[in-house]
Amino acid sequence: MTLTCGIDVGGTKIAGGVVDEDGSILEELRVVSPASDEEAIELAIAGLVTELRSRHDITRVGVGAAGYVDKSRAVVMFAPNIAWRHVDLKAELEARVDLPVVIENDANAAAWGEFRFGAGHDVDDLLLVTVGTGVGGGLVLDGHLRRGAFGVGAEIGHMRVVPGGHLCGCGNYGCFEQYASGSALVRETRGAAAGGSLLARTLLDRAGGAAEAITGPLITEAAREGDPFAVEQLADLGRWLGEGIASLTAVLDPAVVVIGGGVSEAGELLLGPIRQAFAANLTGRGHRPSLEIRKARLGNRAGLIGAADLARY
Ligand code: BGC
Ligand code: NA
Ligand code: ZN
Repeated sequence: MTLTCGIDVGGTKIAGGVVDEDGSILEELRVVSPASDEEAIELAIAGLVTELRSRHDITRVGVGAAGYVDKSRAVVMFAPNIAWRHVDLKAELEARVDLPVVIENDANAAAWGEFRFGAGHDVDDLLLVTVGTGVGGGLVLDGHLRRGAFGVGAEIGHMRVVPGGHLCGCGNYGCFEQYASGSALVRETRGAAAGGSLLARTLLDRAGGAAEAITGPLITEAAREGDPFAVEQLADLGRWLGEGIASLTAVLDPAVVVIGGGVSEAGELLLGPIRQAFAANLTGRGHRPSLEIRKARLGNRAGLIGAADLARY
C-alpha cells in the first residue's frame, strides 16, 4: 500500500501526516503556523515532511493551503490570512523535499477528504464549510472536486453579507468570514468582555481576567459547561453560518453540507443553531427536499487526509 504525506496549512497551525490509501493516518505532527512569514512557512512544511519521511516510505506530498490556488495546483496567488502573494509553492517545496508536491486549497482538500472517507461518503454532491481562522468552502458535484475556471471557486468566506461591514483580510468589507469564522467568534466575545459586559464575567474569569486570553476552545469549553453567554456566542455564529448556507444552497443544491474546521468541535452547540437558521432561511422551504447538515467526521484532519489523497491524482 503506497503512502502519501498530507499537509494542512492554516492561519494558526500547520499539521502534517502520513496517510494510507484508505485515508487512515499513520503518524501526525503539528507546529505553530508562522503565518506572517512566507519562507518560514515553507521551512516548517519541509521540516514536517522530512521528519515524517525519516520514518515512513512517502511517495508524494499534498498540501492544503488557506488561499487562492491556481488551477495547475502549484501557485498560491493570494491568501487573506497568510503572507502569500503569488508564491509558486509547488516549486519551492519540491526543491526542498525532493518529492512530487501538489497544492490544493485547504477547504477543497477537506471537502475531498470528507467525500472520500468521511461525512460525505454516501453522496455525490456536497459542500464543505470550514470554520476556523477564516471561512473556507469546498465543493464536490457529481463526484468531482469543482475548482472553477481558475481554481478559485467556492471562496464562500468572501461573499459579501454586510455592505460596509468589517474590513476583511482580502481587502473587501463585510465578507462572510468576518461574521461566521472562529476569528469573528473570538473578536465579538473579547469585545464584550473587554467592554465590561457582566454577561462575559464567567468567561473572563476563565481567561484569568484578560479579554485577550479568550480563545475559541475556551469559549467552547465554557459553553459545554453551560455558561449561557458562551452558548449564545456560538449560537450567534451558527445563525450567520446557517443563513449563509441557505443562500449557498439556492445556488449549489448539495445533498449534504459538512461543517468542519476547529470551531466544528463545538458539535451541537454550533450545529443546532446552524440547522435552525438554515431551515428558517432556505428559499422554497417546505416545498422542496432539504439537505442534511452534518459535522465533519474527520474533524480538523479532513484537510490533511484530503490533501494526501489528492496527491495521488
Ligand atoms: C481563504 C480560503 C480558505 C479559508 C479557510 C479563507 O480566508 O480565502 O482560501 O480556504 O479561509 O482557511
Ligand atoms: Na475552496
Ligand atoms: Zn474577504
